Amino acid sequence: MTKFTVNDRPVQYKMDPQTPLLWALRDASNLTGTKYGCGNGDCGACIVEVDGEAIRSCLVTIAEAEGRFVTTIEGLRRDRSHPLQQAFVASNVPQCGFCIPGIIMAGAVLLKKSNNPTDEEIDAAITNVCRCGVYPRLRDAIKRAGR
Ligand code: FES
Repeated sequence: MTKFTVNDRPVQYKMDPQTPLLWALRDASNLTGTKYGCGNGDCGACIVEVDGEAIRSCLVTIAEAEGRFVTTIEGLRRDRSHPLQQAFVASNVPQCGFCIPGIIMAGAVLLKKSNNPTDEEIDAAITNVCRCGVYPRLRDAIKRAGR
């Protein structure tokens, strides 16, 4: 049984320790804001925060998450009042919306490290794939949230 903390709550999963964190979050914890896109680390739809870093949860097993602190989009702010969530609304960022939770989680981690990131820093931190191409708007939203 693996134990760690998800959204400030202790969790235990009676699953194969090699289960990707993504599937434990979605299937066992019903935290479906974390999305499955590619399953091999390319798209970023599955990004969550693990101990302060933006991590692709499809690439991490629950055994590797043992004892760590995980935050999903649901745990960022339950009332959606995080400055980045508000900035994404104000900047009208989402189009289809599928990739947005992963982008917001990567952006939130970036803003913890730098509250005034440059375009280059944003592009380096946000390596998520967005088929709708909302990259200019997400840069604006991240800058807006950092102000
Ligand atoms: Fe994890 Fe695409 S689903 S990076």
